[in-house]
Amino acid sequence: MAGENEKDKERQAGSARPRKLGRRDVLRGLSTVPALGLFGYAWQKQRRYEQAKLEATVPAPASAAGEQEINVGLIGAGAQGQALTDAMLRIRGLRFRAVCDIWTEYNQKRVVNIFKRFKHEANGYEDYREMLDKEKELDAVVIATPDFWHAPHTIDCLKAGKHVYCEKEMSNTLEGARSMVAAAREYGKILQIGHQRRSNPRYLHCYEKLLGEAKLLGRIVTVNGQWNRAVAPDLGAPDRYAIPEARLKQYGFKNMHQFRNWRWYKGLGGGPIVDLGSHQIDIYNWFLGANPSSVMASGGLLYHDPKTHEWYDTVMVVYDYDAPAGPVKAYYQTQTTNGSQGYFENFMGDQGTLLISESEVNYAGRLYRDPNAPAWDTWVQKGYVTAPKLQEVKEQTDSVAIADVRESVSPDEHRVPVVLKDPYHQPHLQNFFDAMRGKAKPNCGPEIGYESAVTVLRVNDAIEAKSRLSFGPEDFRI
Ligand SMILES: NC(=O)c1ccc[n+]([C@@H]2O[C@H](COP(=O)([O-])OP(=O)(O)OC[C@H]3O[C@@H](n4cnc5c(N)ncnc54)[C@H](O)[C@@H]3O)[C@@H](O)[C@H]2O)c1
Repeated sequence: MAGENEKDKERQAGSARPRKLGRRDVLRGLSTVPALGLFGYAWQKQRRYEQAKLEATVPAPASAAGEQEINVGLIGAGAQGQALTDAMLRIRGLRFRAVCDIWTEYNQKRVVNIFKRFKHEANGYEDYREMLDKEKELDAVVIATPDFWHAPHTIDCLKAGKHVYCEKEMSNTLEGARSMVAAAREYGKILQIGHQRRSNPRYLHCYEKLLGEAKLLGRIVTVNGQWNRAVAPDLGAPDRYAIPEARLKQYGFKNMHQFRNWRWYKGLGGGPIVDLGSHQIDIYNWFLGANPSSVMASGGLLYHDPKTHEWYDTVMVVYDYDAPAGPVKAYYQTQTTNGSQGYFENFMGDQGTLLISESEVNYAGRLYRDPNAPAWDTWVQKGYVTAPKLQEVKEQTDSVAIADVRESVSPDEHRVPVVLKDPYHQPHLQNFFDAMRGKAKPNCGPEIGYESAVTVLRVNDAIEAKSRLSFGPEDFRI
């Protein structure tokens, strides 16, 4: 499954105490594997575990005390639509009314049935315009369709008077993203873009407390980050659920392969740099308090079949920032052949380093104080960071090379003591619904989504141009 948090989803599923597989599971599994691909099969299996866990914990759909229910519709009930559904079912005060998905007999049906299980009577639609026509009561629409559909879906929902939560990448084109910002302004509705780290309590703690108040890193000079993902087979679909060709064409897909693997196709998605990188590069901009002044990048299709993969599978990028505190160089890489060392963002200043990831499993938040930096005792006492884990002093033996006295001493490791126990997307969705109720400001409004889209989409242009591209402030303004 090419979904971004697949590894973590698998790990999370692992903690759901899977029941023993029976003969029927094995037979069902074997018949599904070739069609969905192994990743797809693992995802399906994991979905069942998660659903069982969810059923045990989800609150009844009663409204939150004294609050009016928010009527919600979903457009796009694929892997991410499902992840958002799972997260939304945990949020009080929502009433799910409609699910729109062109894969009517498969994804649409599955999510409609899930809502039913949780006592929400959601109507299914193939065409979102019909949904908007008939479901006048909808207050909000959550959009998780392929990137090239984001602009038309978002704009028409805003125009129909709905608040919108739209997945990242805001759009696959800058024109699309610009028109979404303009529509949010014109129709005066909330538009939250799905860069969910912006509402993650660990990221917020780092931004507000560690970088903002305590300034633990001193002046940040370099950033590096990565998303290394292992090879995954292309996504498939059981033959009996193939969408008729005419319907595929009507919605912009040439065939089922393209429909399932749209991320890799030009004009539909943006490849791994957009799919994965957009989350993390958005954090570069946020934590540095700036947009980049230039980008240079190298990328290529080094491994995958060019007939079915049009975008680069491997990308390496260098940004220059003129941040308020001074110049910064930021590196980012994504590759899709080896998942070793996973994904993280690493900010390095003259007083310390922050290594952070959305993943709760690896790099969940580590800090290293430079030995020459002022003590962090106050921040440890305040609970902003944990007490340091002192570095082991290696004994000098014959088998260990003699350390050069000029080598920097390894800094001690502190941890960020904030853990997200909910699904990754829940806080960002909660922030969106809180904003609708006037209790919060959206953490990722259209202007932020646009700045992030410019920063990321221009990487593909820089690869093609084979030269450094400059940004001016006007490039990020609308
Ligand atoms: N925030 C995150 O962590 C995260 C993770 C994964 C995906 N995403 C984003 O979510 C979006 C969906 O990704 P996905 O992995 O679920 O893809 P997917 O292919 O699994 O699902 C897309 C769904 O949209 C449906 N669809 C396609 N065109 C449609 C149309 N015109 N009208 C209605 N339904 C339509 C498809 O039938 C499918 O069910 C993408 O924008 C992706 O970038 C975000």
